[in-house]
Amino acid sequence: MMELLKELQSLQGRSFLKEADFTPEQLEALIDFSIKLKKEKQEKGKVTPYLHDKDIVLLFQKTSTRTRLSFELGGDDLGANTAYIDPTSSQFGKKESVEDSARVFGELADGIEYRGFEQADMETMAKYSGVPVWNGLSNEWHPTQMIADFMTVKEEFGKLKGLTLTFVGDGRNNVANSLLVSGSMLGVNVHIVAPDELQPTAEIQKLANDYAAKSGAKPLVTSDIAAGVKGSNVLYTDVWVSMGETNWQERIDELLPYQINMDMVEKTGNQDGQLIFMHCLPAFHDGNTILGAEAVEKYTGLDKPEMEVTDEVFRSKYGRQFQEAGNRKHSIMAIMAATLGDLSLFK
Ligand code: CP
Ligand code: NVA
Repeated sequence: MMELLKELQSLQGRSFLKEADFTPEQLEALIDFSIKLKKEKQEKGKVTPYLHDKDIVLLFQKTSTRTRLSFELGGDDLGANTAYIDPTSSQFGKKESVEDSARVFGELADGIEYRGFEQADMETMAKYSGVPVWNGLSNEWHPTQMIADFMTVKEEFGKLKGLTLTFVGDGRNNVANSLLVSGSMLGVNVHIVAPDELQPTAEIQKLANDYAAKSGAKPLVTSDIAAGVKGSNVLYTDVWVSMGETNWQERIDELLPYQINMDMVEKTGNQDGQLIFMHCLPAFHDGNTILGAEAVEKYTGLDKPEMEVTDEVFRSKYGRQFQEAGNRKHSIMAIMAATLGDLSLFK
């Protein structure tokens, strides 16, 4: 327990902008702290108010369900005040620069959650606000998602090292980048299975390979579905068109062969034992969304309103996506408490 506290103390006052700013031990401490906070909430019905009297700005330039709720409800559980700024109704980005806004938020608040576009804007926000900034998703990284994801994997398998997590789909989006790098830090074999044009950049692959050389992980980037999914413990996917993108027909053409379906589940060879399915959500797996239903009408190639995952796999015994969504709150609480909280309350 003292080891965990020591790692958490090393995070005090820090921003959480991308995984590579931290050590593998610090990431693992955040995962373990998330599990501890979840247990505390389940057992006592409340958690230690690590953020008593803190004021937090939640700035969203893109829409959100899970991330917003996790910061807002999690902040409330920890004793903080949170104020939400939506993508359209403030001066941010239109009448006021990132630098000026950062200076204002730094005067008004003790911490800032920021969901935006460019990673460089995250850095600017941290530099000029002078308070911890938590990246709630950028075009390049989704680091808070990683703590929830590897927390879910650890809950499920009791360990991380040596497991194989395979991301299938748009292998160069924020979630894929973050999984590849953070998994390689933590000793998880992350496979990215995607067509050549949607694979991570050489720079991100090198970063992952450098971490893997130290952790013992064996990352793999391939367009070969059978080779890529074989031996997977986790099949993971995300939307084919991320926020800020519009090229639906192109992505459907490129990624339809990479849809997660029961045939792919069988190709893991683990379907009767050590396999789960994960998705950061939201997901297009049936016709019950406006965009999912429209896609079948508007674009060629889709027989059914299913894109990155079939409804059958989504609703199967493998699915852990809702447990994963719930873990967003515990892990975001852990990140906020470790960086901004009063750790003298840690027991
Ligand atoms: N997974 C995730 O970040 O979900 P939201 O976009 O709903 O926050
Ligand atoms: N890649 C997705 C993740 C959503 C949580 C996006 O950026 O839209």
